[in-house]
Amino acid sequence: MAKPAIPTERGTSQLRCIGCGKLALPDRFRCEQCRDLLEIIYSGWEESGAGGLDSASLKQLWRDRRSSLDPSDQSGVWRFRELLPEIAQQQIITIREGNTPVYELPHCAKSAGVRHLYAKHQGMNPTGSFKDTGMTVAASFARQAGYRWVACASTGNTSASMAAYAARGGLHSLVLMPDGKISWSKLSQSLDYGAITCQLKTDFDGCVRVLNEVVERMPVYLLNSVNPYRVEGQKTAAFELLEQLSWDPPDHIIVPGGNLANSSAIGKALKEMKQLGFIARLPKVSVIQAEGANPLVRTIRETGGEKLVPVHADTMATAIRIGNPASWKKALRVIRETGGTVEQVSEIEIALAKAEIGAEGIGCEPASAVTLAGLKKLVKQGFVKPDESIVLVLTGHLMKDADFTLKFHRGDLFTGTPYEEESHTLKPQQRAPLVLEPSVEAVIQLLRSAEK
Ligand code: F0G
Repeated sequence: MAKPAIPTERGTSQLRCIGCGKLALPDRFRCEQCRDLLEIIYSGWEESGAGGLDSASLKQLWRDRRSSLDPSDQSGVWRFRELLPEIAQQQIITIREGNTPVYELPHCAKSAGVRHLYAKHQGMNPTGSFKDTGMTVAASFARQAGYRWVACASTGNTSASMAAYAARGGLHSLVLMPDGKISWSKLSQSLDYGAITCQLKTDFDGCVRVLNEVVERMPVYLLNSVNPYRVEGQKTAAFELLEQLSWDPPDHIIVPGGNLANSSAIGKALKEMKQLGFIARLPKVSVIQAEGANPLVRTIRETGGEKLVPVHADTMATAIRIGNPASWKKALRVIRETGGTVEQVSEIEIALAKAEIGAEGIGCEPASAVTLAGLKKLVKQGFVKPDESIVLVLTGHLMKDADFTLKFHRGDLFTGTPYEEESHTLKPQQRAPLVLEPSVEAVIQLLRSAEK
């Protein structure tokens, strides 16, 4: 493996420690002084706007790029490049990520007791999750910096995305995944895209520990969500959302919480939009975790946000089966600055919410469904008012975890678990496949009985 050439030249973006404020070299992940995470800051925005343009000109420019044939204009991430770190055009690795739809969810709205409910479906990205929006920026940076190898620890979506972008960009990739309690479709993606894929006999947090040492000792660029370039790319979901809502911000944005980078990214985007004059007020950003993987909820409730309370994570929403989230301080800052909150939801609540999103003809993976389950609780608590507007960020595609969906509809998702008894309440949502004789009469009879 060749040692990469670290670029020394800096543009208007720089890495800064979120704790002590010290500046860092462009390919670092933690502050050398206090070990806190780094974030990207932009100079010159105060005086002359981003890219030297005011918000009205940027809105027009971003709209115009939608009809361009240039690959970076067609990307729903690079279309907003004035608000991203500078990457040379020829280094950009894009699979036309972003450009994801916003859907109305009328039935879910009714079930949650609200009137204006939308989903920003990040599962409609090229590899089926929101990770692509961050990966395009971080993988492009890796290539520009001269790295030949990239790596991540993952519950499955980051690895699928990294493997795809590495392949497109001519980079080698190494994936560390937990052995067990992951989705087969996600594992199959990283195999298909050509990553070296290892299943370690540990959980996600264990994979992170191993990988952190590997990248210290080898010239391999880390593409986990502590990577500040990933956060920058993930910001664009919020830019795009606001554009889709005609720059009229919703009252609430609800995000699932795992390693807590996505909530951090969306919050950073909103603050930048306000700073640059795109919006006058910030939506409240709230983070929802599974009860069995709730370190942020416990950190806030038990320590007032002073100290992370790591947990031994367990949930069927395997994407967010994380007990020691790296970006907890960033997420906490976003919740506080936007006036949002945290909540946790049970396995049964997640399964019900996922089925309800599916029944809208949209669907998502279990981790994304925590948003609807959490919203229901926030409405009951009075934190979300019935006439406020809410956007759920759906992070992964329905097909990411077909096993969960099949088991749910067959009625055996909770067999042998402590939730077996309670799971009977889910019967009205379950539609097991019907096995019939190959007879026209049998099918017609079924249709008639279904009409009744
Ligand atoms: N939703 C899905 C579908 C995810 O895959 C993840 C994280 C999250 C939500 C949580 O986002 O970590 O930014 O708070 N998946 C990571 C992975 C950990 O490895 O794919 P977060």
